[in-house]
Amino acid sequence: MHKPLTRQNRFDAARKDAGMLELGVCYYPEQWPREKWDEDARRMVELGLAWVRIGEFAWSHIEPQSGIFQWEWMDEAVEVLGCAGLKVILGTPTAAPPKWLVDRYPDILPVDARGVVRKFGARRHYCFSSRRYRVEAARITEVLVRRYGENPFVHAWQTDNEYGDHDTIHSYSDEAKLAFREWLAARYGTVEAMNRAWGTQFWSMHYNSFDEVDLPNNLVEEPTPTHLVDYYRFSSDQVKSFNKAQVDIIRRHSPGRSVTHNFMNQNTDFDHYKVGEDIDIASWDVYPMGGLINGRLSDEEKARYLRVGDPDQTAFNHDIYRAVGKGRVWVMEQQPGPVNWAAHNQSPADGMVRLWTWLAYAHGVDMVSYFRWRQAPFAQEQFHAGLLLPNSEVDQGYLEVAQVTEEMTRLPEGEAREKAEVAIVLDYESRFAARALPQGQGYAASAIALDWYSAIARLGVDVDVIGQHADLSGYKLVVAPDLVIPDAAFIARLKASGAKALFGPRSGSKTRDMHIPADLPPGPLADLLDFRVTRVESLPEYHSEPVLYGNTSHAVTGWRELIRTTETVLATFEGEHRQGSPAIIGNAKARYVGTLPRGEFLSKLMGDTLGWADVKGLPDLGDLRLARRGKLHFAFNYGSTPASVPASPTADFLVGGRELAPVDVAIWTQTP
Ligand code: GAL
Repeated sequence: MHKPLTRQNRFDAARKDAGMLELGVCYYPEQWPREKWDEDARRMVELGLAWVRIGEFAWSHIEPQSGIFQWEWMDEAVEVLGCAGLKVILGTPTAAPPKWLVDRYPDILPVDARGVVRKFGARRHYCFSSRRYRVEAARITEVLVRRYGENPFVHAWQTDNEYGDHDTIHSYSDEAKLAFREWLAARYGTVEAMNRAWGTQFWSMHYNSFDEVDLPNNLVEEPTPTHLVDYYRFSSDQVKSFNKAQVDIIRRHSPGRSVTHNFMNQNTDFDHYKVGEDIDIASWDVYPMGGLINGRLSDEEKARYLRVGDPDQTAFNHDIYRAVGKGRVWVMEQQPGPVNWAAHNQSPADGMVRLWTWLAYAHGVDMVSYFRWRQAPFAQEQFHAGLLLPNSEVDQGYLEVAQVTEEMTRLPEGEAREKAEVAIVLDYESRFAARALPQGQGYAASAIALDWYSAIARLGVDVDVIGQHADLSGYKLVVAPDLVIPDAAFIARLKASGAKALFGPRSGSKTRDMHIPADLPPGPLADLLDFRVTRVESLPEYHSEPVLYGNTSHAVTGWRELIRTTETVLATFEGEHRQGSPAIIGNAKARYVGTLPRGEFLSKLMGDTLGWADVKGLPDLGDLRLARRGKLHFAFNYGSTPASVPASPTADFLVGGRELAPVDVAIWTQTP
């Protein structure tokens, strides 16, 4: 399918048409004998792969000692892969600084919240604030990019690897402390402005200069939340500038190549939109089996979805990273079988690798690359599957990829994902705020947002994820499950737009300084809806409150607000405590929910909200999920029984059919 290239081919000759699915794989030539490379490359192409990512952990192979470079192996690997017909994505190797470097400059190492240095011996052992590491990361990036920047086989770059993996965004080193002080000085100008924002008249915390400020770890009690949120903001900005330094080097020496970074499943430790501004394509790493085990569902639901994963988590992340990538998204690592790193590591059901691949494409992903080519018989990830077994026999994932490459040929070219009618707001600063002041054990904003997304997805409606900077035109409904810190400008644009809005609890509850708004919550939201929140309470799971919505009473737990309003009351708390107080309120433009509906209640609320906003939904799909990409319709069956696809009678099935077996995929076109 992919013609072999030669060095004479121009780099541009192999560029793909937008909208077509391409596949790839992560490969580590340095981990295998040279004799295997040609055969591996040939088999990748034979399987129908177009891309191969290499190099992201290869620093000590490139520079085994300070200033001593060995390029031959990488030159040859790029040549072998490229000549076989593969487009190479080269990773900058900064996620794994070599031992000699760490020994020479120990202040590269990150420090955990207890103040303990995190040592060499695995990966991601660097502090984003280490000035020495910044210099070294730029140096190795520069030599690498100068060498391969115009190589005809190198088509894209990946910066570093998974910022945030292993909890590495927050470091409490001396270097971080100094950088934090500078950051504060730049943010506040005067230390008195900082004192006011932090509320340091409380508990005698006043500072006389920025040089007195420390990092918010190892304190006797909790820090002021503004100190904490500023530290999260600072740490987030450090990631952006660290990444941008590499991108700038790549842009200088590698014209025309795309730059990406591989993000993670719902990581909110830094502002991904800000990192996304500097790259061309957002990619992310898809591990739904571990995602299920670590995720939001109950044990009973986890048991039900054990081998298929949470039916909405992966789709939600595709939608998030489509926003981060300003429309362009890849999967850099797709799990091809069991992994090694979760609390339990179950095998996906046969068929899931294919399903996840098509799911990605349906959600706007243009390239899916599998992690990894061959299972490693040594080191940390021995239990992690590859497309091949350690002895090079094909494994299940390989067979499913082969099926996808055959199915790809039946699809028309160039279908693009269109803007959805419904948008969900994901705001990273609001996540920092909820993390700094959770007000209740187990409060998890990510899980709440995914619950809300899921309630919409179950009704067969496509969703875009947006930040507060997004263009709102064309949306009929904007849903903000946890917008703790709304921008007044965003609220003004929302007000002027044609969209209706649904807000979850805590929306508007804090200012940017992490204070209660002057005229009480919901701060600027009061421009859309006349109400005030006068009290909040967090509730333990063993207690529930009845809420009357329509004619039905639903039990809620976790969170309850006391609302004063002149607007229409759509649901009320009916327990003994403050019986009759509003739980959901609304007017013609906006609705606000002062609690955490789940299950059927949430489903009913979303169904009604879609109807109110004139968005056409379907009856609850159960374990079936739908998505659209241009004129292509997709259905995915996460259930354990066959399901009927709600296609129109005119449907023309390209893959699968109207009756969908468990773990199966249907793709069709239809006239509306
Ligand atoms: C990812 C990481 C890969 C590999 C993989 C295993 O988080 O980027 O390098 O470790 O997990 O599942």
